[in-house]
Amino acid sequence: MKKWQKWLLTGMVSLLAWPLGANASTAPIVIKFSHVVAVDTPKGKAAEKFRDLAASYTQNRVKVEVYPNSQLYKDKEELEALQMGAVQMLAPSLAKFGPLGAKEFEAFDLPFLFNDFDALHKVTKGPLGQTLLRKLEPKGIIGLAYWDNGFKQMSANKPLREPTDFQGLKMRIQSSKVLDAQMRAMGAMPQTMAFSEVYQALQTGVVDGTENPPSNFYTQKMHEVQKYLTISNHGYLGYAVIVNKDFWMGLPGDLRQQLEKAMSEATVYANQIAKQENDQAVEAVRASGKTEVLTLTPAQRRLWQQKMMVVHTQMEDRIGKELIAELHRAAGFDAGR
Ligand code: LMR
Repeated sequence: MKKWQKWLLTGMVSLLAWPLGANASTAPIVIKFSHVVAVDTPKGKAAEKFRDLAASYTQNRVKVEVYPNSQLYKDKEELEALQMGAVQMLAPSLAKFGPLGAKEFEAFDLPFLFNDFDALHKVTKGPLGQTLLRKLEPKGIIGLAYWDNGFKQMSANKPLREPTDFQGLKMRIQSSKVLDAQMRAMGAMPQTMAFSEVYQALQTGVVDGTENPPSNFYTQKMHEVQKYLTISNHGYLGYAVIVNKDFWMGLPGDLRQQLEKAMSEATVYANQIAKQENDQAVEAVRASGKTEVLTLTPAQRRLWQQKMMVVHTQMEDRIGKELIAELHRAAGFDAGR
């Protein structure tokens, strides 16, 4: 190649590369945050809070794109997508970590384990909660935070007051063996199903009933297809916010720090709004006039408890006897209450 030809080629290559280089250095890092619930829920709102805080603290160097309502992936698919790096952040319910091989998280599903949010926070804000999150690291996942949703209520097209009312009902559950055992203890037939399919399954009678905190029940319009909702508070449903480990550790240190700050503030926000969102959802269900809201008498609640309590021992092999005992201690669990 002649000297002038070399000169021309070098000039052309640098001219072509210049705009690419300029874009690459200014383009924001994108975090795709996928989840399965509506925007107007504790998780939906907290994800948007994190998006806004992340943009502000990183001065738009990080762009969080939130994809709600199973828009991108359903329950099981989103976990696979996270591990493959197709999305970077999720907040699955703690009942859904079994397929990842982290079945310890199903311990949060143990019926009547937490008396209230204070008891729950002794675990999620304490050393046991952190130990559990660290179990995700060998799976290529980092657990950043726990976000509350709330206590679950049972619904069906018949009133659920006594344990015998569950006999033979097909009840939709999340993919947790603890929930499977809980429904069987009540005499029902559990059916595992993705969250995005529940409304239709209730509408067409594929399942007879389900359980969820009121915020999910109302925003998925389940009150249109369920005649009764029993306020039982028989179990807890909440989330772990998780990220792809390679992605997170590959971020520049200063950005990671700013994102951690955004996450810790979004977590405070999530846990502040969760109870109120669920209380408002119960009122909205009542006001709809479509679902009758039932309250258990203390005696009926005791009967539910007695029936379900067997699950705590049944699950020792799956979750670990020691872990269940530790959880009982941390949550101040009293089997006789
Ligand atoms: C469900 O599948 O019932 C819920 O876990 C959905 C969610 O993420 O709250």
